[in-house]
Amino acid sequence: MSVIDNLNKSREPSSYSNELFNEQWQLYQKILLNSYMKHQEIYGILHQWLVNNFQKPFSMLELGCGDASFTAQALSNTTIASYQGIDLSEAALLIAQSNMEPLPCRATFTQGELLEYVVELVQKQQENFDLILSSFALHHLSFEQKDFVMGKLLHLLKNGGIFLLIDVFRSENEKREDYLKRYLEDVHKNWSQLTHQEYSLVEEHIRKSDFPETQSIFYSLATKHGFTRKECLYHDTLDTTQMLCFYAPTCEMR
Ligand SMILES: C[S@@+](CC[C@H](N)C(=O)[O-])C[C@H]1O[C@@H](n2cnc3c(N)ncnc32)[C@H](O)[C@@H]1O
Repeated sequence: MSVIDNLNKSREPSSYSNELFNEQWQLYQKILLNSYMKHQEIYGILHQWLVNNFQKPFSMLELGCGDASFTAQALSNTTIASYQGIDLSEAALLIAQSNMEPLPCRATFTQGELLEYVVELVQKQQENFDLILSSFALHHLSFEQKDFVMGKLLHLLKNGGIFLLIDVFRSENEKREDYLKRYLEDVHKNWSQLTHQEYSLVEEHIRKSDFPETQSIFYSLATKHGFTRKECLYHDTLDTTQMLCFYAPTCEMR
């Protein structure tokens, strides 16, 4: 049995519901279009941050890229030279390909499990990235799987490279049940363009598949795995969504 098989045992067998990101990608696009998960705000900040931080050509890996629609917008008019995206959803990757096409960079996509992909990349030792992004994907993993992925990322980053995590977070000391109640109350109140059926699908997906950690848990994992600096670039008013930045050591520090 492989490390990944063992890790997958740490996730409840029925916990990951991928229907929303396969058959119902249009519903997820509706959520993006209405910026219910704050993509407009976050990716606006990300674009400016990329412009400020990458004056030279840079390479990027995105874990759980989905249709990469907001990533493509954030990367436009930056110095992006090469982009790799990995996602489980074939439907999303087809759209991602066309979203990235206008950008003057090499873009490649892989359909598969991100846990396996990071292991493969580390084993090959062929590629190192200036930037790794994961946006609203890691909360689908169990704690053990998140720990495992964080442990691989430093090996995939260049000296001084950066891991950017955009995701949902529990408040400090908040239990998952309380987080779900709080998050779903907001969905019910503010995601007003969803039909009753769409709301039910979203609720089912969130209840089955969302396992957010707190900010301090991610900061501890980053320290454990050798990241030297952490920074919060975005924190929403509801205290559910953040963009965190983790810095790999520079060559003098390694
Ligand atoms: C909420 S969507 C986020 C998409 C995009 N990154 C964004 O911010 O809009 C989550 C994405 O992660 C992908 N995903 C979830 N778990 C994954 C895994 N273990 N390996 C690869 N992709 C995964 C899903 O297929 C889906 O496209």
